[in-house]
Amino acid sequence: MKNIVVLVSGGGTNLQALIDAEKSGTIINGKITCVISSNPSAYALQRAENNGIPTRIIPRKEYPDSKSYSLAVLDALNEENADLVVLAGFMTILDQCVTSQYAYRIINVHPALIPSFCGEGFYGLKVHQAVLDYGVKISGATIHFVNEKADAGAIILQGVVNVEKNDTPEILQRRIMENVEWKLLPEAVSLFCQDRIEIVDGKAYVTE
Ligand code: GAR
Repeated sequence: MKNIVVLVSGGGTNLQALIDAEKSGTIINGKITCVISSNPSAYALQRAENNGIPTRIIPRKEYPDSKSYSLAVLDALNEENADLVVLAGFMTILDQCVTSQYAYRIINVHPALIPSFCGEGFYGLKVHQAVLDYGVKISGATIHFVNEKADAGAIILQGVVNVEKNDTPEILQRRIMENVEWKLLPEAVSLFCQDRIEIVDGKAYVTE
């Protein structure tokens, strides 16, 4: 059974999708053993507590830079014996000290179709605003491994939705969460826990 540590910063609907998937048995060979928040008032912490999952708070504000923050996160991940780290609405970019030690063991959900609308500065509703400003007709979400560059690691799964004429960032965000994020993130986590993601030449493939 693999230990899954989930990193959060906000509402935690993706964390909830993972909790629900674990409860219904669709995460095979994995268990959420700890939730770590960068934000002491994140509602995601409440979701973890409601489900008896241990929590840790490592406030981003208490660290002067990304390196010192990432070292604190790294210590926590090592203490928790994390086999898989899931960034579920985690709004801080982790330094190379974490991404190299946990290479191909950190999964992120990004709310757009990478390589579009991604990288530094593209997070949360800003992503959906940029999509609407550009006028693209489809968007979606990407589940990918995390490497030293923001949103640039190997893609595991992607799913699409239509962008509609009267969408607001909030409406589009909700459509992408409901139709893609809440389904594909638990699916990718389950595949990882079953050792069904193979890396070939830096690209990720799902095996039978
Ligand atoms: C989700 O849409 C997630 O894809 C996005 O933030 C939202 C968090 O929602 N993540 C990023 O933008 C990371 N770059 P949640 O807290 O309800 O899961």
